[in-house]
Amino acid sequence: MKRRDFFKQAAGALAVAIPDLACAVRRQRLDSLWPSYLDADPATFPYDAELFEAAERFVFLSQNEAVLNVIPKEGKNLDIRLCRLPSEHSISGGSVQAYSGIKDSLDIPILIPSLEPEYRYRLEYRESGTGSWRSTPHRRVKTPASYLQTGRLEAIFISDDHTFDDADQGVRIVHDPWVRKQRLSGEYVNFILKELSKNPNYYPAPDSDLRKTLGGFTMASTLLTILKYEHPDFIILGGDSTGIGAPYQWPGFGLRSPASGLSDEEYDDYAKLFWLRMRRIFSVLTPLIPIYLCQGNHDGESGYDPAKNQARKYRKKYFKQPGFRQGGALEENYFPLFWGAEKSGKGAPLFLVCDNESYNPASPRRPEDWTIGAGQKDWLKNALRYETDWKSVFFHHVLGGWPRGSTEEEVDYAYGRGPLYVAPDYESYSSDPDLIEQVELTKIMRDGGVSVNFYGHDHIFHVREIPPPSGGSARKMYGVRLGSPKWFGEDHWYKGPLWQKHYGSYGHYQAEPRPFSLQTDFWGPSGYTKLILTRDGVRVDYVRSADNHPYTNIPPGIGVGATVASHILSF
Ligand SMILES: [Fe+2]
Repeated sequence: MKRRDFFKQAAGALAVAIPDLACAVRRQRLDSLWPSYLDADPATFPYDAELFEAAERFVFLSQNEAVLNVIPKEGKNLDIRLCRLPSEHSISGGSVQAYSGIKDSLDIPILIPSLEPEYRYRLEYRESGTGSWRSTPHRRVKTPASYLQTGRLEAIFISDDHTFDDADQGVRIVHDPWVRKQRLSGEYVNFILKELSKNPNYYPAPDSDLRKTLGGFTMASTLLTILKYEHPDFIILGGDSTGIGAPYQWPGFGLRSPASGLSDEEYDDYAKLFWLRMRRIFSVLTPLIPIYLCQGNHDGESGYDPAKNQARKYRKKYFKQPGFRQGGALEENYFPLFWGAEKSGKGAPLFLVCDNESYNPASPRRPEDWTIGAGQKDWLKNALRYETDWKSVFFHHVLGGWPRGSTEEEVDYAYGRGPLYVAPDYESYSSDPDLIEQVELTKIMRDGGVSVNFYGHDHIFHVREIPPPSGGSARKMYGVRLGSPKWFGEDHWYKGPLWQKHYGSYGHYQAEPRPFSLQTDFWGPSGYTKLILTRDGVRVDYVRSADNHPYTNIPPGIGVGATVASHILSF
């Protein structure tokens, strides 16, 4: 794409709704992932639940190395064949990797020929030694070579889906045993997704129990929107997806509360349950798009979380990520993604996924308490020595934030809220801002040539140009909040004085009768962030992913799949 076309498509760098897109009907992309399911048997969409716990998950660990993870259903014993299919781009034919007697999670190693822009496969399987072979639909996965050939990289970032908040709360109690079971297993998202795929206007009936689990509805709509309208190279989750770190919701799922004293075995059971729930929820995408995870405070691995060992064990088992051999941590909780390196190994866009949860031994009381740990900090500095034009870093939240809890009324702990990056941001909150780790991390990122720090946690989409050091004229650097696909925007957060000081005005929360302000500086749920990186420019969009009117500040005229805001990032 020529530079002028890129900018024309972006329709200008706006932090407001784009009028000409407001009523646009989104057209399906020619290379959309949706056709891969159109001929699938409805009984095995999105996966064969008779023999598997969830769909298979394909993920690159490095440029030429991937794994395909399969999880046989408990009590089943499977023979599995991974059939690599030749494609029109292939320089070689297909091949088969066969495994027999598989009872537990299996990571199948895959080597990707370096020149192929697409990896095509299908999985054949049967109960061991008996029964006829069944097959998944053909799967197509973009490889990093695609970016090398096209010069265009698209990545989607989904943060804070919070489907664990669909647990019973207050007077909102699910009574229907079928809905309770599906909600706990995660299958309710797949059920809703099937309904939405047949009828785009589907909404759970007002008097139904499914209407009480609208986080599942907006999640299903988000996944379907990506399937139908996008074809990203990969997805990064910004955190707060599993719910292992949200034990206050467990009784609302019919599980035991940690307050009653849980054994290590019970934590083990719950960690396994929530990771399998997550794999089922993302099952329509995991065979087709590599999905990576940045740890959030509700994912169970915070340094002070009693379930941290079990949460980590099942993440590594069911959600493998790049690790030590790929230049990341042994525990796969922080790692680099080099996407599309030249033969020299240099020049690939770099995405560094960090972990701001595991190294805080206690829940931070003050912004100064947050840390990523000395080891991870050294790793970050070293990783940023890599030579390339595009470097980005992911955290769940800033390592500091304003000195308040989840809400501004809570003053006895520091929750990492706000887009606070540099010493002047912290002057009213700390006697010595240099003691706040984010100030140091911002300097490390700036010195290391980082273009964007992506982060979640506050459930809004917001772009901030991070100020250069005083008197300096450094290259531009941005902080981008990733939004959230959840059901409702937290308007009570938006009205806090610190929120307004640092994020600005929420504009018009649609459930309110009149606009708070004519200006909207950030956007709430439901949406995901899309990065488009070409050799000519960088753009980030916030895309509406579900109809959650009126519990949002997104105008109703911006339909599902349409762009809410678009920013050209210049450096
Ligand atoms: Fe969070």
